[in-house]
Amino acid sequence: MADDQRRLIEVAFPLKQTSLDSVHEKNVRHGHISTLHIWPARRPLAASRAALIATLLPDPGNAAERQQMLEKLGGRLVTRVKKKKLPDGRTEEQTSEETEGGILHWGRESSADLDWFREQIRAAYGGRAPRVLDPFAGGGAIPLEAMRLGCDVTAVDINPVAWFILKCTLEYPQRLAHQLHPLPDFALHSREFMEGYFKAKGLKGAELQVQLAGLGLNGEDTATSQPQLTGIRTRVVSAEADLAWHVRAWGWWVLQQAKADLARYYPTSDDKPTVAYLWARTVTCKNCRALVPLLKTRWLCKKDHKRVALTMEPNADRSGVVFGIQYDVPVTKGTTAQRNEADKHAGGGTMSHSGVTCPCCGTIIKMEDLRLEGVSGRIGAIMTAVVVDGPHGKEYRLPTEDEIQLAAEAEKEISSLFAEIPFGLPEEPLPAKEALGFRVPLYGFDKWYKLFTPRQLLALGTFVKYTRTVREAMRTEGYTDVWVEAVSAYLAVGIDKLTDYIAALCTWHLAGEKMSHVFVRFALPVNWDYAELNPLSDSSGNYRACLEWVSRVVEANIQAAQKAVEPHAFRQSAILEQNSGQYDAIVTDPPYYDAIPYSDLMDFFYVWLRRTLHGLTPEIDAVFAQPLSPKWDHERNDGELIDDSSRFDGDKHKSKANYENGMARVFQACHRALAPAGRLVIVFAHKQPDAWETLVSAIIRAGFVVDGSWPIQTEMGNRTRALSSAALSSSVWLVCKKRAETARPGWDTRILEEMQEQIISKLRDFWDAGIRGPDFVWAATGPALEVYSQHPVVKKTNEPGQALSVSEFLRHVRRMVADFVVGRVLSHDGGVAAVSGLDDVTTYYLLHRYNFGMASVPIGPCILYAVSCGLSDNALIARYDLLAKTGGQETEDDEDEDADGESEREEGTSSMVRLKQWNQRKSASLGYHAPDMPPAPLIDQVHRLMHLWRLGDVTRVDEYLDVHGLGHHQLFHQLLQALIEMAAEASEERSLLESISNHVEQRGALPVYPLGLIE
Ligand SMILES: C[S@@+](CC[C@H](N)C(=O)[O-])C[C@H]1O[C@@H](n2cnc3c(N)ncnc32)[C@H](O)[C@@H]1O
Repeated sequence: MADDQRRLIEVAFPLKQTSLDSVHEKNVRHGHISTLHIWPARRPLAASRAALIATLLPDPGNAAERQQMLEKLGGRLVTRVKKKKLPDGRTEEQTSEETEGGILHWGRESSADLDWFREQIRAAYGGRAPRVLDPFAGGGAIPLEAMRLGCDVTAVDINPVAWFILKCTLEYPQRLAHQLHPLPDFALHSREFMEGYFKAKGLKGAELQVQLAGLGLNGEDTATSQPQLTGIRTRVVSAEADLAWHVRAWGWWVLQQAKADLARYYPTSDDKPTVAYLWARTVTCKNCRALVPLLKTRWLCKKDHKRVALTMEPNADRSGVVFGIQYDVPVTKGTTAQRNEADKHAGGGTMSHSGVTCPCCGTIIKMEDLRLEGVSGRIGAIMTAVVVDGPHGKEYRLPTEDEIQLAAEAEKEISSLFAEIPFGLPEEPLPAKEALGFRVPLYGFDKWYKLFTPRQLLALGTFVKYTRTVREAMRTEGYTDVWVEAVSAYLAVGIDKLTDYIAALCTWHLAGEKMSHVFVRFALPVNWDYAELNPLSDSSGNYRACLEWVSRVVEANIQAAQKAVEPHAFRQSAILEQNSGQYDAIVTDPPYYDAIPYSDLMDFFYVWLRRTLHGLTPEIDAVFAQPLSPKWDHERNDGELIDDSSRFDGDKHKSKANYENGMARVFQACHRALAPAGRLVIVFAHKQPDAWETLVSAIIRAGFVVDGSWPIQTEMGNRTRALSSAALSSSVWLVCKKRAETARPGWDTRILEEMQEQIISKLRDFWDAGIRGPDFVWAATGPALEVYSQHPVVKKTNEPGQALSVSEFLRHVRRMVADFVVGRVLSHDGGVAAVSGLDDVTTYYLLHRYNFGMASVPIGPCILYAVSCGLSDNALIARYDLLAKTGGQETEDDEDEDADGESEREEGTSSMVRLKQWNQRKSASLGYHAPDMPPAPLIDQVHRLMHLWRLGDVTRVDEYLDVHGLGHHQLFHQLLQALIEMAAEASEERSLLESISNHVEQRGALPVYPLGLIE
């Protein structure tokens, strides 16, 4: 590939397909790396794969071949009609767009087409594996895909937990991809284990029995009379198994040891295994001294046909409460709102926004008091109910005395157990209450172990203890070091998964009747009523299930590593120097300001990993040497990059500047690490324009030319999904190359002219490719920035010594894009011209209305539109009265989130806004302006006319039209038409607009010359 050859990503990208397959991937469970270990904000594999391929491969240079390549990559878009069953039993037809073919969709990643891409990539680099670096590799999505594509991958992250995940994602699967090892003796002697193994290999019926019999595992329920089985021709399935099966085998071994120690703490009564114990934290009422359970809800199960709730009455001496279980809580008749209200009452707990209501005397204990109680160690806990597995599903009952007793008894064994474990009980401190996303320290949880009940600590400690003994047991069975390390590592991952399900922060999922896990959101909020899982059970979240999730990912990653070269995972800072000039591509997804407190949150796992892994290898011990993961090291001026002012004594400016400065240093390090013709691709997950611009400026200053930007949807919204796909885009992938050393300063007038010339044709291409909404603005940003960033600095012609900043430049770009879109809207999509002369507020209104209609949408894309029009969201809300805030993040669907308990949520802005209806804009000054001021926005004038028309005052309407010169105002006519088309059929808005439009036309013919449109 010639050095100056454009890459596919710099010319075209299968945007829609990548977005669809990325969104779909969020539903994937088994085998996906998101189910290996929690890591916040993992990027989708589909997006990572598409970006890597399009960055590493040259653009073919002609439209036909390019199209072919894009189709091989992303497949074709097809519309499918599916029948969906509604809650009321009716079925509804729903259409959805999907991809057909391509290699991005989950399940299509090991096809002949992928082999083709792997070969093309190698060929493009003269037959060698291109070197790819991800300096912020986190949970490993980008490096995993680079490895799958045959690249020589280096994955770097500062966090030890991330580094460990990277080893498990890349290194072990690659090292053991082609190796098999005989299953250990204990597995071969277990009918239960071997039956699972043979079944997974496709054996069933008599064939299965023959295999089991061959191992002497006839079992009681199997015909022992061998003659019956003779004559059956059966495949011989080897007991030499891959890494995933050895993880299962040793996990099974650990479980048997742990069961022997722990079973007595999880007793079974009536032959119904215990799934979970439900608890409420407690405080003493400051008025009547009763023991008050802190319950957010009394519901235990809330499904259409199963409604179970806890009942609660003051006890005889009103010193506390007595619980009971109510099955079949009746459904109230009435509207949904009435039913919801009745249900709230039927299952109402003691907690509300104002505080806790004492069930014995009615006193309200405020949240501040609760905090004080917590900090003073006076918050206790009471077991409220037990969930068991009955013959027809989950059953709920009150706890027995024995169960209450056993839960307390566990405490006695903790110190002796943890004396055997390196570093003892996890007494490391939790972050301070000022840290980002941490609510628990407010209530006195100041050490990591305090997030667990004594029995949970006992269980976790026991699993750690036996996992640590696996190494010796494996060596005795003749495994080599790499096998011992890899299997032990995955078992440690299994414990981390279990930890996520057995902390006293987990709740009971009322609709799913299963455990929820801690990291449903990337924060540590306190939960007042929590569920304690039985890790030995067969229910969701148990140890065995955790191990199965892990083993499936191992299987999938072994597949990804089949044709891989050795990957490298390093725990180090991205700020540090990397191998100079080595990398053909750096593709990375950096931490973004204050979005996610990675290291503080992931210390939840760090403290357990450190104990489980200690002594496994000198490398692991060195990485986990410190009690907690690295934060910011003020002396070395290096560390985790995050805008968290608690690390700078509460100084917000210092913290922000430190983050921005650190990122600038990383971009400089990337510049040095990149080969001359290399490409840097950076993912931006948040899109607040000002923050984005700061980082883009730093990229340009580091010596890069930005020449592409693709907004890939990776997030599945819930209600917003139907409104505008554009509102969901969650990451912009920015493509950069090195600026020529000979580049000279540019001049603003020339640069803006050049940008205008180049951008119009790009805009037409993007529009024709179906890109709409805020995505359109983002897609245009990269190509526009190319013109600007080709110069190390762009000077202002009319202001000597001043430079045109990225923000100023982008303001021009965005305005052009906005005008282009509005031109399309005003000319009913058919015109080729952009609009000029339309005021900012009306431009914003049209952009917003065209893309989102009148529904409530996240504020992020609205801010982008606002800045594109030279406005701010605040001005649109307060000064122009055009937008209304509609509240925070959608919460109604919360219970449906995480349906399988394995999903992760991405970061995002929380506020929602919508356009105000014309008749909600009632200000007396609407549509009028003071004598020396510019005219009111055209949209305000239209809305004023609508008010006047509705009053039936034609004289005032005519007067208004004349005074404001609207009769001959071409843009006014176009705006009216556009609004008519956007208004709902048969709505009052539409009928008023049509009446006004007819009236204006009757009053006089329009001028023949078109105003306002520019070519
Ligand atoms: C957005 S995440 C990367 C997620 C990743 N792309 C994935 O798919 O899982 C950003 C990562 O940057 C890491 N990080 C923060 N500061 C760092 C630094 N100075 N050097 C290296 N990594 C750092 C965090 O630990 C985090 O894993």
